[in-house]
Amino acid sequence: MVVDVKNVSWRRDDRLLLKQIDWQIAEGEHWALLGLNGSGKTTLLNMINGYIWATEGKVSVLGHEFGSVDLRELRKSIGWVSSSLQERLYMTDRTQNIVVSGKFATIGLYDQPDAGDMERAVALMERLGAGHLVDRQYQTCSQGEKQKLLIARALMADPKLLILDEPCNGLDVFSREQFLAGVKQIIEAPNAPNLIYVTHHIEEIIPAFTRTLLIRSGEVYRSGDTREVLTSETLSEFFHAPVEVEWRYGRAWMKVNSE
Ligand SMILES: Nc1ncnc2c1ncn2[C@@H]1O[C@H](COP(=O)(O)OP(=O)(O)OP(=O)(O)O)[C@@H](O)[C@H]1O
Ligand SMILES: [Mg+2]
Repeated sequence: MVVDVKNVSWRRDDRLLLKQIDWQIAEGEHWALLGLNGSGKTTLLNMINGYIWATEGKVSVLGHEFGSVDLRELRKSIGWVSSSLQERLYMTDRTQNIVVSGKFATIGLYDQPDAGDMERAVALMERLGAGHLVDRQYQTCSQGEKQKLLIARALMADPKLLILDEPCNGLDVFSREQFLAGVKQIIEAPNAPNLIYVTHHIEEIIPAFTRTLLIRSGEVYRSGDTREVLTSETLSEFFHAPVEVEWRYGRAWMKVNSE
């Protein structure tokens, strides 16, 4: 098991924000995670990263049960890309230094990378279509370019689990397609990490995400095969609103009936 969340609840100031969550991710599986604003997605991911502790239940990640593992070591095997990370990085750093810092899991570069590390950072940037950004200041990059740098940074540590929390925010449709093609390549490469992909847009769930978890008000509403979960019927019930799902090119597209 890559992730094993058993009967997990999380209480904060009298609010139960996660309720008896069960979620198992097996080796080789890639999951999409869907839920409305405030449903608990990021909270659940914070728990998988060990930033918050379950009030009840058990969490194991990469075979280590929380409570008996050095979290700083474990986190080196988990890549996490989110907009909050994007804001925490140093704006004047050179792009390739941002990428190479992923090896040390630090914000800013304190350890001395060797020539091999630098080469690898540049190779990862090229692989993600960000090769032309070498030597630029991070703050001069566009939203989509920053997102690519963050993924290159996450891959630098050779993670076993890669979490992408709404990675396509701020991308135009074509950059988004290009980005998703990059995600597909990451998944298809040898020794690929297991991916968790959080989104509000179901068409971003490319076929490699064969499993989907629906979360509502801190509870698992449904989890299973993406093809079976992303249907008009299930999502209309899930959102409490009539929606139409159409499958095209191996991806689901959703229309909202707003009349
Ligand atoms: N540390 C905290 N203290 C109090 N409430 C919190 C804390 N962290 C999260 N919450 C609350 O828990 C709920 C779930 O938040 P979370 O960030 O997990 O939502 P989300 O599903 O990631 O939403 P979004 O799609 O907007 O990113 C929200 O109501 C949020 O305000
Ligand atoms: Mg969130």
